[in-house]
Amino acid sequence: MSTRISSLMGSVLQAALTPHPVDRYLELVDPMMTWRDLRAEIIGVRRSTERTVTLTLRPTRQWKGHKAGQYVQLSTVIDGVRHMRCFSPANAAGDRHDDIELTITAHDDGFVSRHLRETAHPGMVVGLDQAAGDFTLPENPGRNVVFISGGSGITPVLSMLRTLVASNYRGSMTFVHYARSADDVAYHAELQNLAALNPNLDLRLHYTRGASPDHFTAAHLADVDTADADIFLCGPASLMDAVREHCEGAGLADRLHTEAFTLTVPAVDPNQPITGTVSFTESKVTAENDGRTILDQAESAGLSPESGCRMGICFSCTKVKKSGCTRNVLTGELDTEADQHIQLCVNTPVGDVEIEV
Ligand SMILES: Cc1cc2nc3c(=O)[nH]c(=O)nc-3n(C[C@H](O)[C@H](O)[C@H](O)COP(=O)(O)OP(=O)(O)OC[C@H]3O[C@@H](n4cnc5c(N)ncnc54)[C@H](O)[C@@H]3O)c2cc1C
Ligand code: FES
Repeated sequence: MSTRISSLMGSVLQAALTPHPVDRYLELVDPMMTWRDLRAEIIGVRRSTERTVTLTLRPTRQWKGHKAGQYVQLSTVIDGVRHMRCFSPANAAGDRHDDIELTITAHDDGFVSRHLRETAHPGMVVGLDQAAGDFTLPENPGRNVVFISGGSGITPVLSMLRTLVASNYRGSMTFVHYARSADDVAYHAELQNLAALNPNLDLRLHYTRGASPDHFTAAHLADVDTADADIFLCGPASLMDAVREHCEGAGLADRLHTEAFTLTVPAVDPNQPITGTVSFTESKVTAENDGRTILDQAESAGLSPESGCRMGICFSCTKVKKSGCTRNVLTGELDTEADQHIQLCVNTPVGDVEIEV
């Protein structure tokens, strides 16, 4: 069937079945049979450390592949509510025929990560979005690449490392990873194996818990040839701040590429009074403004607006602000215009705000 005819049939079917999209009907027959939605079936589950689960996903035909370092948005239904979170494929860059490998670290009070660590099983179907993000390897990496990761931040840089190894990269690769302990390194055996097989890979593992915690210091990079190096960094805020500061001091800032998994919201200015009421107009719920992001305040008020990355990159939490003033925590900018689309996860109310949730 030609692409035009199949797309026409899709439109006709879609129109005929409005208001229920075709995919809502198809999923009753088989959740992996989709017209437009991208989904994936979990075909493999490994729990290689106490806090992680590694999932192999087989995507539906809509999948377009990923570049090393990008992320996908995965959605899953928990107690009848669909939740979305970002995860970075850890497998080497792949095309539309490739499976996807995600390694998810369960946080102590993490809602979705704990759910997946505990319940993911072969045959489970999850929603996906196409890969996105520009934390990626350059087309032609130079002669020297340094990866620095902490905890769950290993996934995008492991994808880069695996991609370089698969392409027979001849330059030098330094892989510095911080974990709580040796048992906490999700890909411990594979990393050691890669280092044994590739003389151009220098693997450095540091453990941050136990008798002598070994957090990042400049000494960890002192003997690394950083001349012309591209440096890729992903990990918790404390590690990222320390490495960033080091790179700025060493004149390496312009070659540092970073990806954060969480948003660090600047502390609320104690001299700035927090006032006003947040009115969620569609649900007719109000809350006294407590200074946190509108997404956090909506959730505390018992609402479940759609969200994904919770840090201003995926736009899934975008809603219309009907009135009032909001502050973007990433830029510090104030917005007083009515009827504006804003991202709930990176905006705080300044006084009374009406928001279409
Ligand atoms: C671009 C991108 C790529 C990502 N890739 C991965 C990945 O490959 N593997 C992976 O495990 N996670 C990854 N994450 C993080 C992931 O999307 C979730 O944020 C994480 O799994 C926590 O979700 P949750 O629902 O369990 O926690 P929530 O219920 O949303 O949060 C619970 C608590 O945990 C804290 N928290 C959430 N995430 C973190 C974190 N990363 N570190 C420390 N504290 C945290 C929150 O501040 C909160 O206090 C990525 C995030 C982004 C933005
Ligand atoms: S949840 Fe991703 S931009 Fe707000």
